[in-house]
Amino acid sequence: MLLSVFERFKIKDRLLLPIVQGGMGVGVSAHRLAGAVARLGAMGTIASVDLRRHHADLMAATGRSRDRALIEAVNLTALEREIVQAKALAGGHGMIAVNVMRAVSQYPDLVRKSCEAGADALVVGAGLPLDLPELTAEHPHVALIPVLSDARGIALLLKKWMRRQRLPDAIVIENPRYAAGHLGAPDSATLNDPRYAFPRVLEETLALLRELGIERERLPLIVAGGLHQHAQVRDLIGQGASAVQLGTPFAVSTEGDADAGFKRVLLDAGPDDTVTFMSAAGLPARAVRTPWLMNYLDKEAKLQGKAKAKDCTVGFDCLQQCGWRDGLAKAGQFCIDTQLAFALKGDTKRGLFFRGSEALPFGRAMRPVRELVDYMLNGVVPAPASAAA
Ligand SMILES: Cc1cc2nc3c(=O)[nH]c(=O)nc-3n(C[C@H](O)[C@H](O)[C@H](O)COP(=O)(O)O)c2cc1C
Ligand code: SF4
Repeated sequence: MLLSVFERFKIKDRLLLPIVQGGMGVGVSAHRLAGAVARLGAMGTIASVDLRRHHADLMAATGRSRDRALIEAVNLTALEREIVQAKALAGGHGMIAVNVMRAVSQYPDLVRKSCEAGADALVVGAGLPLDLPELTAEHPHVALIPVLSDARGIALLLKKWMRRQRLPDAIVIENPRYAAGHLGAPDSATLNDPRYAFPRVLEETLALLRELGIERERLPLIVAGGLHQHAQVRDLIGQGASAVQLGTPFAVSTEGDADAGFKRVLLDAGPDDTVTFMSAAGLPARAVRTPWLMNYLDKEAKLQGKAKAKDCTVGFDCLQQCGWRDGLAKAGQFCIDTQLAFALKGDTKRGLFFRGSEALPFGRAMRPVRELVDYMLNGVVPAPASAAA
C-alpha cells in the first residue's frame, strides 16, 4: 500500500488511491501489471481482448486454428486465469477491473465471464455501453465504468441508464487529443475539438450532475490522456476530477505485461513520433510511427479504393465490424489483432504500437509501478540509482 497527498476516492464503498491504470490490449495490461497496481491500493485493469496470447498451452491449442468457437472458449479461459492471478497478486488491496471494448464481437461473453471470475469492476469504451446494466444485472457488486470523451456523450449515457434505475460507479473521461489506442472522436479531423478539453468536460459534467441531482461523490470522474506530471494531477483534482488514469506510462513500467522490445519502442518515441489513423474498428487511433504503420499508411488509399468483404484473417472475427474483413472503405484495411499481437512480442518490424502523444514521466527509463504512482501522486522523483533499463 502507498500513501497519497491527495484524498482517496470511493468506488462501491472501496477507498482507492486517485490513480487508475488503463486497460491496454492486446495483452499489454494483464495480471502482472493490474495486480501490481492494485497491490498499491489503486485500480489495475486487465484488457480482456485475445488474452490467450499470454498462455502457451492455449496458443498451442489454437495458434493455427480457424475455429471461432474454440478460440473464443480459450480466450474466456485465459481471462479467468488472468483475473484470478491478478487478484492473488493484489492481496485484497485496491481493485481489479476488466476492460472490454464495446466494438468486439465477444463483448457480452467477456462481460459475463469477468463478473463470474471475480472482477471488481468493468470498464467499457470503444462504443456506447448502453446495455451494460442489463448484462450485469445478476452481479450488482461489480462496479460499472464507461469510458467517454465529452459531456454530450456522458449526458446521453446517464439519461439512458437512469431510466433503468442504474448509475455508473465512475466515468473515465478520455481526451482523444493525447490518449493512446482507439480514440473517442468520430474522425482524426475532430481530435483537437475544444469540447474534449479536460477543464470544459469537467465543468460541463459537474453542472450536469447537479442538474440530474447526482452527488459528486457518488459518481467519481477519472480523467485520462497525456498525463505525465505530478502538477497535472494537482490541477485536475483541483478542477473536480476524483482520479487520473494513465495508459502509456504504465505500459512501459517494469511490471507491464508486454515484451521488453514493446516497451523500448514506446520509450524511444519522441513527441513527433506518433501518428493518428483509422483503425480496422472504424475509430481513429494513435500509435508510434513504426515501419509497418508508415508502409501501411502509404498504401492505405489504394487499399481503401479496392476494399471488399473477405474471410477474417485470423478466423475468430474479433470485431463486430471490421474494415478489413467487411470491406468498409472508410475504416482501416488491416487485421488489427495480428498487428497488435506482433507488437506484444516486441516485433518492431511488423507490430502496431499504440502510444499516447505526450512525453513520459521518466523519459526513456523503465521503472516499477510503485515509483510511477509515487511520482504522479506525491511528486517523489526516484533516485537515479534505482533507474532500470
Ligand atoms: C498499448 C495501449 C493499448 C491500449 N488498449 C486499450 C484497450 O484495449 N481498451 C481501452 O479502453 N483503452 C486502451 N488504451 C487506452 C488506455 O487505457 C488509456 O486510457 C490511455 O492510454 C490514456 O492515455 P495515455 O496513454 O496518454 O496515458 C490503450 C493504451 C495503450 C498505450
Ligand atoms: S480480420 Fe478483423 S475481425 Fe478478423 S481478427 Fe483481424 S481485426 Fe479481427
